[in-house]
Amino acid sequence: MSDVLIRGRVLTFVREPAGIDDAGAYRYHEDGAVLVRNGKVADVGTYADLAKRAGSGISIADHRPNLVLPGLIDTHLHFPQTQAIASYGAQLLEWLNTYIFVEEQKFQESQHAAFIAGRFMDELLSNGTTTAVAYCSVHPESVEAFFTAAEERNMLMIGGKVMMDRNAPEALRDTPQKGYDETKHLIGKWHGRGRAHYAISPRFAITSTPEQMEMSRALVAEHPDCYVQTHLSENRDEIAFATSLYPGAQDYTDIYTSYDLLGRKTLLGHCIYMSDREISVLAETGAVGVFCPTSNLFLGSGLFDRDRFDRLGARHSVATDVGAGTSFSMLETMDEAYKVLHLQGQRLSPLNSFYMMTLGNARALDLEHRIGSLHAGADADIVILDSRAKPAMELRMQVASSLAEELFVLQTMGDDRCVAEVYVAGRPMKRGRREQAKTLI
Ligand code: GUN
Ligand code: ZN
Repeated sequence: MSDVLIRGRVLTFVREPAGIDDAGAYRYHEDGAVLVRNGKVADVGTYADLAKRAGSGISIADHRPNLVLPGLIDTHLHFPQTQAIASYGAQLLEWLNTYIFVEEQKFQESQHAAFIAGRFMDELLSNGTTTAVAYCSVHPESVEAFFTAAEERNMLMIGGKVMMDRNAPEALRDTPQKGYDETKHLIGKWHGRGRAHYAISPRFAITSTPEQMEMSRALVAEHPDCYVQTHLSENRDEIAFATSLYPGAQDYTDIYTSYDLLGRKTLLGHCIYMSDREISVLAETGAVGVFCPTSNLFLGSGLFDRDRFDRLGARHSVATDVGAGTSFSMLETMDEAYKVLHLQGQRLSPLNSFYMMTLGNARALDLEHRIGSLHAGADADIVILDSRAKPAMELRMQVASSLAEELFVLQTMGDDRCVAEVYVAGRPMKRGRREQAKTLI
């Protein structure tokens, strides 16, 4: 692959912003460039410097006046729920039983799984998301489809088969041994192949027996380099049910702790109704609470208390949680995150939002050396954002006077229309597909 110079207004974070004026938290080049070589970032700086060093003959992808950022990262969503977004009128447990456990049964069919997996990856890319952490269905076929679709696009994706052996329809249940064997086989086949990472995925305490939790413990101990993902304290009825199934646990978090499932590679979806004790356990173990604002509002679950996580020193990340989440767009997700925090008297500055979608989420995955920021040696996963993509945004931008204001317009009014292009390991993925689609018409 030959070198390409991606030109535009380059923005990348180096640390978490302390406030809306914290210019030391990011690097911004008004006329900047990213030099891409062999799928990696080779250099970042001003266009003038990089063009001079590269010499004549270099290909230039000119994205001015758009912003050039690291690809966005989504730390929790469900790929088999792609066609179940916008399922009406229920809270978590009823929603799972009425819609989701019906939808996920379709994924025993490899053909269906492959079709949805392809559309799912393309939808992520259309929204500027280059890495995501996803639950597949209980069927190994769904994991095959998921990683195959990711590999075809060379995307850095994390995922795994859900393990569930109770409180779900028969067609969605495995057994402790089957869940273990299938997970073990999938880890052997996919974890570390190309850009794939495996996440050991007991769905949540309600759908796993103590025997399946034991098997999860064994899998985590045998594969400490795999991620672990599950759900925690999303909804009051869920908490009552989960804790009734594990009467020996002192609270919901303790169920997972007692099976040694919490560590730096563990992602815990939602974490809304948490005691200080529980958040402190996350802080001690390094486990990450995943904030899913559109989902938490859609299911009427509750409000994530980010400030308490910060105060108690626990890690957190942000995610769409499609299909309870209502959009694949991380921009729309941050719009809702702002509102969820605002309702609790907490501030989310636009600098923080863009940090969270990029470097913050990369750090939550311990992948900041590879993704989430633009630095020499990083993977060249890059998104190009157009802050004037909609007429109402163009009008609003006529009176915007700072970078922070522009970012706030993008997160408040933006969606997939603002994603002008997305690069995966240096390869443009969006414009190419659009042009292909045009030739097919
Ligand atoms: N808890 C267990 N499974 C799920 C799921 O699929 N979505 C959400 N939002 N919560 C869950
Ligand atoms: Zn979820």
